[in-house]
Amino acid sequence: MAATGAENLRVLSGMRPTGRMHLGHLHGVLKNWLKLQHAYECFFFVADWHALTTHYQQAREIEPAMWDMLVDWLAVGVDPGKARIFIQSHVPEHAELQLLLSMVTPLGWLERVPTYKEQLEQIRDRDLSTYGFLGYPVLQAADILIYKAGWVPVGEDQVPHVELTREIARRFNFTYGREPDFEVKVESAIKKLGKRNARLYSELRKQYQEKGDQEALQTAHALIAENQNLPLGDRDRLLGFLEGTGRVILTEPKPLLTAAARMPGLDGRKMSKSYDNTISLRDEPADIEQKIRTMPTDPARVHRSDPGNPEKCPVWEFHKIYSDQATRDWVWKGCTTAGIGCLECKQPVIESVLKELQPIRERAVEIEANPEMLRSVINQGSEAARDVACDTIDEVRQAMGLKYR
Ligand code: TRP
Ligand code: SF4
Repeated sequence: MAATGAENLRVLSGMRPTGRMHLGHLHGVLKNWLKLQHAYECFFFVADWHALTTHYQQAREIEPAMWDMLVDWLAVGVDPGKARIFIQSHVPEHAELQLLLSMVTPLGWLERVPTYKEQLEQIRDRDLSTYGFLGYPVLQAADILIYKAGWVPVGEDQVPHVELTREIARRFNFTYGREPDFEVKVESAIKKLGKRNARLYSELRKQYQEKGDQEALQTAHALIAENQNLPLGDRDRLLGFLEGTGRVILTEPKPLLTAAARMPGLDGRKMSKSYDNTISLRDEPADIEQKIRTMPTDPARVHRSDPGNPEKCPVWEFHKIYSDQATRDWVWKGCTTAGIGCLECKQPVIESVLKELQPIRERAVEIEANPEMLRSVINQGSEAARDVACDTIDEVRQAMGLKYR
C-alpha cells in the first residue's frame, strides 16, 4: 500500500486511558472505528503518555484504566485481525520522533494551540505549567507522523492539532528534505516514470505551481501512486518537487471529520465521567434502567397532564439515536399532547440500550476472564506498529544525517 500521495488509506487514532468506556465513546468514536477498520489500514492506540501531560501526579492510575479501556474496545468489536491495536509507550519511537520534531517547532505555534490557553486557564485543580503539557501537541504530531497516516478521525475540537501536525511535517520536510543533490535526483526519478508520464508529470506540476490548479495536483499524486515500481525515496522526491518543498519524508495527514451521533449524557450535557452523567458499557442492566428512569425531562411536564416539548428533553436525544421513525412519531405526538407519560416514553430507550449493551457486556466478561489473551493481542499489535514506526524513524535519522555508521 502506498504510504504517501492520493492513495494513502492509513488511519491513526488514539485515546487517552480513561477507564471503562461509556455510551458517549461508543456512539462518538468506537462505532466510527468499527466502520473504518473495514475500509482503511487502521492504527488504534492507547495514548498513555498523553495522560501524563495532564495527570503526571496520578501516573499509577494509567495502567488499570488502560486495561479497562482495551477490554471495552475489543468487546465492542474493534478487531485485532483488522486494525493494529497498541499502546503508545510500547513504541518508544514516538518519543524519539517527538524529540526531533520539537527542535523544529516554534514555541509560538504551541502557545497558539486553542486548547492550550483554555485548559491552562480553566483547569485549576492540576498543575499544567509544565514543559510536557505545552509540548503535548508535538507528541500527538509524532504519533501521527510516525505512521505516515493519511487520515486522523477527530472531532472538531481536535482539528487544530491535525493542522499543527501538518505544519510541523511541512517544516520538517522543508528543513531536512532538501538533499544537496535534490535536483539531480528528481531528474532521474522523473525519467523513471517513462517518457509519456514524465511529460505529463512536468505538465501537471507546472499547472499546479503556476496556477494553483488543485485538480492537477490530485492527478499528479495519482500518477505517482500508480507507479508502484518507483523506489520509495523517488516517490517522495517527486511528491516534494511537485509541491515545491523538498523530499516528502513525513506525510501531511488530514482530519477525517465524521458526523458522529451526538450522544448527550443523562442530564443533557455532554456525556462525561466528570459530570457523573454516563451509562457505562458494562453497567448492570438494573442500574441502566434506574439511570434512565431517573433522567430529567422537560421541566414543563410537572404533572402527567402537562404537555411537553421533546426539544427540551434529554430523553428525546436518546430517541434520536435509538428509536425508529414510528417510535419517534409516537414520542413527539404523545409528549406534545400529554398523551404519554415520561416513564412510558423512556421504556423503548431502556429496552434499546439494554439490547445494545448485552452482547458487549458478555464479551467484556469473557475478555476479562482471559487477561493473557488480551496482553498477547496488544503485544502483537504493538510489535506490528513498531515495525512501521522503526522504518519511519530510520528515514528521519537518515534525512537529518543522524544515521552514523
Ligand atoms: N489528544 C487526543 C485526546 O486527548 C488523543 C491522541 C493522542 C490522539 N495522540 C493522538 C488522537 C493522535 C488522534 C491522533 O483525545
Ligand atoms: Fe421527554 Fe418523553 Fe417526557 Fe416528552 S414525554 S418530556 S420527550 S421523556
